[in-house]
Amino acid sequence: MHMIECVIKPHAVGLVKSKLAEMGILGCTALECKGFGRQKGHTERYRGARMDVGFVPKVLLKVAVKSDDLTKAIDAITSAARTGQVGDGKMFVYPLANVVRIRTGEKDNDAL
Ligand SMILES: Nc1ncnc2c1ncn2[C@@H]1O[C@H](COP(=O)(O)OP(=O)(O)OP(=O)(O)O)[C@@H](O)[C@H]1O
Ligand SMILES: [Mg+2]
Repeated sequence: MHMIECVIKPHAVGLVKSKLAEMGILGCTALECKGFGRQKGHTERYRGARMDVGFVPKVLLKVAVKSDDLTKAIDAITSAARTGQVGDGKMFVYPLANVVRIRTGEKDNDAL
């Protein structure tokens, strides 16, 4: 299992969610956040307005996936979140040791 953390533009969240749901990935945690990437000293657009790239509003999605789904989940997020403009986001992927579905007690792949 892997945990995918991706920092994306807020407007892309709905499309990413629906693409993951189409793949049968039905859980996700979203956190509103702010961040910056490589454009030090430049600007990025947010809702049409130019913003300093000091800290630009983003959404951090955390998605736990079965290892068999990892590549297609990464590809789906990439294509759903890409506009081609700076600030489209970044993904960080970690191995995931344990998952527990609390209501049922199911573990790991059965819990996802
Ligand atoms: N090295 C990093 N570590 C942690 N978070 C990062 C890192 N790089 C980017 N992020 C997060 O991802 C968000 C989006 O990054 P962004 O897409 O601007 O990356 P970039 O490398 O500048 O690429 P681009 O040139 O396409 O803008 C940032 O606002 C920040 O929250
Ligand atoms: Mg950037």
